[in-house]
Amino acid sequence: MEPGIDGYLPSKPCTLVIRGGYINAILQNENELDTLHRDITDDVPVFDCKDKIITPGLIDPHTHLIFAGSRAQEFENRLNGMSYEAIAKSGGGINSTVKATREASIEELVELALPRLDSLIRSGCTTIEVKSGYGLTLDDEVKMLLAAKALENHRRINITTTLLAAHTVPPEFHGRADDYIDYVTGTIIPHVAKHQLADAVDVFCESVGFTLEQTKRVFLAAKEHGLAIKGHTEQLSNLGGSALAAEFKALSVDHIEYLDDVGVRALASNGTVASLLPGAFYFLRETQQPPIQSLRSEGVPMAIGSDLNPGTSPFANLQLMMNMACTLFRLTPEESLRGVTCHAAKAIGQDQHIGQIKLGYRADLAVWNIDHPSELSYQFGMSGLSKRIIAGSVEDVR
Ligand code: NIG
Ligand code: FE
Repeated sequence: MEPGIDGYLPSKPCTLVIRGGYINAILQNENELDTLHRDITDDVPVFDCKDKIITPGLIDPHTHLIFAGSRAQEFENRLNGMSYEAIAKSGGGINSTVKATREASIEELVELALPRLDSLIRSGCTTIEVKSGYGLTLDDEVKMLLAAKALENHRRINITTTLLAAHTVPPEFHGRADDYIDYVTGTIIPHVAKHQLADAVDVFCESVGFTLEQTKRVFLAAKEHGLAIKGHTEQLSNLGGSALAAEFKALSVDHIEYLDDVGVRALASNGTVASLLPGAFYFLRETQQPPIQSLRSEGVPMAIGSDLNPGTSPFANLQLMMNMACTLFRLTPEESLRGVTCHAAKAIGQDQHIGQIKLGYRADLAVWNIDHPSELSYQFGMSGLSKRIIAGSVEDVR
């Protein structure tokens, strides 16, 4: 990976000029800099990138950052031989987090989320997508979305929110999944759209989640209410959820270990991003690999997310995910970096504003004490982050 101005990495001698929080000029030689100094005023930050590695601020395009309770006991049950599906069917899994999350106040949810957020920030994140999905009533889903957005008042971070009311069938609807989908499409989605509480709608399309038909009803409602679409699809089996999501011009389909070639082609022809979640793959000891080579050859952009959640990916570090994407899925370090910058931006519908070092893009950047960008994927535990820049304002990282 050679540093160069291709929209992702700055070239070596390079000066970024930031005005109003946006990248206003990218200068590559001394003459350009002299010309600039003639008309520059003190309040325009000029950032010298010489001898430093700067990347776009990292973007985590898939988290379940807001939740209460712990699933450590379930981890132990899995080590004793119970499967994720068996735990879900016996009332544990997602529904045990639903119980704890329903009991928590919005303030408690924010408090619980802050240490996880701090860890993601230390790994270089400037934007994070956060899903609901552990409330499963109108009030509790709204509480989760408000808690997610409230994080912006506590830390310098951009949060996008996704409604995942169709995560699992809640206990009060046991055996009545279609009735629950009526509630999601008829009550929750209209309310969330009306009050602009979420940017997108997601569905867990799976045997332990919702059928293809139910998923379609949720997508139709999301479309009707002007919300973007995302999917938890092809995680444990191939139900065709990814191809369906792509037909609806979904921003992304996520997990996709069981995606087939028909699905890959559907993503390619509809501009849908494939979001890889290596943390869940690792934690569930999955053996089915996502179809990386087909995604590459069809030119489908691959994003990488932490999927931070208490059940299948309790990992609050995006650099760890970059490393896992390389070691487990054989992505190159360059693909991995694009996966958490420009492709992650596309996965959350923000690719016109963030995820690249490009004129007119928001100056959300990460400055690293490393010699080469590959180090971001190569090492883990020594973050290397030295500065975060959010909309042009610089914050030192200790
Ligand atoms: O992305 N797949 C479904 N949802 C989450 C898991 C949530 C949980 O187990 O609490 C995921 O893996
Ligand atoms: Fe997830």
